[in-house]
Amino acid sequence: MTKIIFIEADGTTIEATAKPGMSVMQVAVNAGIAAIAAECGGACACGTCHCYIAEDWFDRLAPAKSDEADMIEFVVDPIPTSRLSCQIEVTPELDGLVIHLPSSQT
Ligand code: FES
Repeated sequence: MTKIIFIEADGTTIEATAKPGMSVMQVAVNAGIAAIAAECGGACACGTCHCYIAEDWFDRLAPAKSDEADMIEFVVDPIPTSRLSCQIEVTPELDGLVIHLPSSQT
């Protein structure tokens, strides 16, 4: 199992376990994290799974593809480490990944 650490805008930390092949969005939804609404179900079409990757993790992820990068331009409060959690696949190498949740989604 891979551990993913979500940090809410108010500092609340939620540790969730994930199986390889899941998306980080699925992990968040399964953990009951309200900040990840995931309205399109992972189709890269809504932006409601927007999250901020911890800086020391950002370069360890596969880069965003063009459709994800295009969608990030439309989310609220994007920053350089913004990603769509539905487009990040869990792998064993991501054990301990830290994800910050935008205050705009609480
Ligand atoms: Fe809609 Fe990720 S769930 S873009």
